[in-house]
Amino acid sequence: MCGIVGYVGTQEATSILINGLERLEYRGYDSAGIATVTRGELHCVRAQGKLFNLRQKLETEVNPSQIGIAHTRWATHGVPAEHNAHPHRDMYNRVAVVQNGIIENYQEIKAELINQGYQFTSETDTEVIPQLLSSYLPAKPQGDDFLIAVQKTVNRLQGAFALGILCVDYSDEIIIVRHQAPLVIGFGQGEFFCASDVTAIVPHTSTVLYLENGEIARLTPIGVELYDFELKRLRRFPRNLDLTHVSVDKDGFKHFMLKEIHEQPTVVQSCLDHYLKNEAEDNPICLNLDPQIYTNTQQIMILACGTSWHAGLVGKYLLEQLAGIPTSVQYASEYRYAPSPILPNTLTIGVTQSGETADTLAALSMEKQRYLNLSREGKFKILGITSRPESSLAQVVEQIINTHGGIEIGVASTKSFIAQLMSFYLLALDFASRRGTLSREKINNIVKGLRQLPGQIEEIIREQNRTIEAIAHQFSETQDFIFIGRGINFPIALEGALKLKEISYIHAEGYPAGEMKHGPIALLDAKVPVVAIAVPGEVHDKVLSNAQEAKARDARLIGVSSLDDRVALSVFDDILSVPMVDELLSPILTVIPLQLLAYHIAAIKGLDVDQPRNLAKSVTVE
Ligand code: F6R
Repeated sequence: MCGIVGYVGTQEATSILINGLERLEYRGYDSAGIATVTRGELHCVRAQGKLFNLRQKLETEVNPSQIGIAHTRWATHGVPAEHNAHPHRDMYNRVAVVQNGIIENYQEIKAELINQGYQFTSETDTEVIPQLLSSYLPAKPQGDDFLIAVQKTVNRLQGAFALGILCVDYSDEIIIVRHQAPLVIGFGQGEFFCASDVTAIVPHTSTVLYLENGEIARLTPIGVELYDFELKRLRRFPRNLDLTHVSVDKDGFKHFMLKEIHEQPTVVQSCLDHYLKNEAEDNPICLNLDPQIYTNTQQIMILACGTSWHAGLVGKYLLEQLAGIPTSVQYASEYRYAPSPILPNTLTIGVTQSGETADTLAALSMEKQRYLNLSREGKFKILGITSRPESSLAQVVEQIINTHGGIEIGVASTKSFIAQLMSFYLLALDFASRRGTLSREKINNIVKGLRQLPGQIEEIIREQNRTIEAIAHQFSETQDFIFIGRGINFPIALEGALKLKEISYIHAEGYPAGEMKHGPIALLDAKVPVVAIAVPGEVHDKVLSNAQEAKARDARLIGVSSLDDRVALSVFDDILSVPMVDELLSPILTVIPLQLLAYHIAAIKGLDVDQPRNLAKSVTVE
């Protein structure tokens, strides 16, 4: 949430910063702004709305400079307006700050500063930072005064934040700070970059250093100095990134979301290539987890938010049904304020596409602390599932399963979800194989099915995209949708509904099909279409009966089903077709037409599919 970029070096800073913001815009797009030091003065240009507006303003306000910071905002405190846009400055125009995060004690600091005569121009929490910093700066700062003022400021702030700071008296210095919100430094030749996400830096360098919590860095054209919050000098070395998956181009697709839907066969294949060995081996899965995880785990707890929470629900089904391990799935945002009593020998799994979701990280950190306090009474492990192994998640968990989903730009998750599901299939099979809860034959059959998935996803996209687009045209005016599924496809009903709400702004609910008659069926009439996931398997007939109950209330029925399924054909008004597949593997296929349905409805309505209103890709605030 919110994106920060910074540059110091020998090139013209503005275009580098604006291009960086473009690559971070998925983190928020309520406003954007840039600050540079030009001819000994601090210049700040800000605009409400998307980056396009800032670009336009910059055509007439040119401030050539070799140093600058920039920001794209997702509003937390204060409406999306120019006066609330970052960078924020102190009242003397000496200091400019961009922030990603929330300053929890800003009211108290603001009151203090107002008493001292400071005047504020925004409703944001961020504005207290430059004002406070300015109050710590001597009239003629020199040497380390800027750094010392930053340290004093940072030690007063409570909350989770990442900062980029410029001071007019230091025209070749950017100071950045990380406290529970991500920041990465890029190393060039006589130039240095910083950003909330490496995507903004990769066009310039692949040599990076991820700041850790509690670190301050000073960037000048001659190098980077690293400190802790006591200003003790730290030494860590940058590393080279593997840039194979860092592509942020649409590659000819109209939207990133559509491109990412099309990438899903490759994502599944990549996950299989990394983690599946020859079926003839004793155990065909090689996740290489700590052996204690396999021996000690008596129950599993999954912590996640949003779409990742839906992946966790499928994970629960797999871990319980294939590996026989009792599993619970918790919303991280709820769990952190009402944790369950600790059970010994628990494996906690944090699932997060970005690896930066504040609630998920906080819930995992809390569990880590609780486990440390109790470690003599049982064995606890914390595992992460993410497509961003370099993210903050790595600082909280003991081990990561890299989903190999690659970077996702569309705000609505598609390929990340599929990659998370794949990780759960492999994890459940790994446990099942090691613990002998499934026969070798059964495991080999499932593995065989997994290997067919890339081709089957490709088939759905190739054969169904046009049909689904045609169906979507009928629903651009629809106000409400219901999605139903049972068993392993209940989470897919939730995910289908979430995709639709997020990008088309149509109210949609996902329900376990059997629950409809306990209340939600009262919503149904001819104006409320029902999407039912009915693939061959244990709950097939049950879902069809539930769909019939909806039809009897005049609901228009759309089935996610196979065209070879004659019974389904006779029940549904429209079919979003998927190939015949074992029910166990079906979520990987049934979610694809639902992603396409949501995509096409939103695109037909002319909405901003990749940057839906009020949302951001990385939810780094609570
Ligand atoms: C929905 C979506 C969100 C995220 C949620 C958690 O399409 O993307 O619901 O799933 O914000 O984000 P991560 O997975 O980054 O922790």
